[in-house]
Amino acid sequence: MNIARESLVTLKKSEFDGLRCQHDNDEVRSLARRIVKAMDTLPHGVNVRLGPWVATSDEAKEAAVTIATIAARELAEKWALTELSVEVDKPQISAVQSGAQYRTLLPHHDGGNCSFLTPSKRHVESWQVSDRTSQVAEVSTTRNHKLYQGFLVQEVGDRESLTPYYDLTEILADQFHVEKGRAPSSITELAAHLGSNLLHSLSVLREHGGGYVQLSSILGSKELIYLLVNIHHSHYVFSDREVNLFPDLSTITSNSRESTESTPVLYLFDKMWESRLGINWEQARKRYEHVVSTQKHDLVLGHNIILMHGGLNGGTNRILDPICLVMPAPVGEGYESWLANAWEESYKRRSVAGQ
Ligand SMILES: [Fe+2]
Repeated sequence: MNIARESLVTLKKSEFDGLRCQHDNDEVRSLARRIVKAMDTLPHGVNVRLGPWVATSDEAKEAAVTIATIAARELAEKWALTELSVEVDKPQISAVQSGAQYRTLLPHHDGGNCSFLTPSKRHVESWQVSDRTSQVAEVSTTRNHKLYQGFLVQEVGDRESLTPYYDLTEILADQFHVEKGRAPSSITELAAHLGSNLLHSLSVLREHGGGYVQLSSILGSKELIYLLVNIHHSHYVFSDREVNLFPDLSTITSNSRESTESTPVLYLFDKMWESRLGINWEQARKRYEHVVSTQKHDLVLGHNIILMHGGLNGGTNRILDPICLVMPAPVGEGYESWLANAWEESYKRRSVAGQ
């Protein structure tokens, strides 16, 4: 497992005191810049370690929200994101399916009905902002556009507390290569390729009443089963509607019972990867995954658009307070600049790595 050790942000006592007493001193500004730079340049999220300085869950939450607020202020000033704000959602637990030992969440965007990677107009001028939503009828979180996802770990639970991240432009560039037999020549070409993948999947989703943009949509799957079945939770049981739409799901479910390692969703996810990149999910994990390992009272913040994230082997009693940086809608000059920068930073990572 590729543990991302550079994700850790530790606070000096003076920095923590600065958060509590005065939000606007130089030290706090510098901390905000450090966190924002890490979120915008690393291929994974950051974990800000509050444990040494807080004793209770309320103290941890207050500090976590303050840190998210100073990061949001830094970003708002840097990119003229005037409507950027901090959204604190209700606590989440890891709902482990009965009979399962753990829960794994596969790569996803939080709020993937209206928060997913699209081209910036700086790279693809013709991109329509209306194609930044998939028009889902029901949502599990709010309808705000989440630029950065995050959470405070209130309890790590009785299994692992691991958040894996996946750099989408890296995966997308490989998918481009498989499809066209060459690397993309520029960000613009790769962003236009994503745009074409998305327009196909959005039309499929909308035709069937909406839905979440999943990795299959980003990678340009043509098979409806990968675009319309919920491939999110390792032990998810396909809905009656999904089985009616795709009767093959019943066969997948009964075949997967033979293996203790696999589940029907993981089987389907393997097939999706094989169809787009010629590798299975375990091979993809080795190639693309960066894992942030967390302790009690760590605040995790990560890019929710250029990266997808998941959750590995979580157990019951893991409790998270979701804390995200959001905008009402992904529109405006500031947003286009912020998004273009995310593409450019991501592209730069690969040039630095010599790819
Ligand atoms: Fe998530």
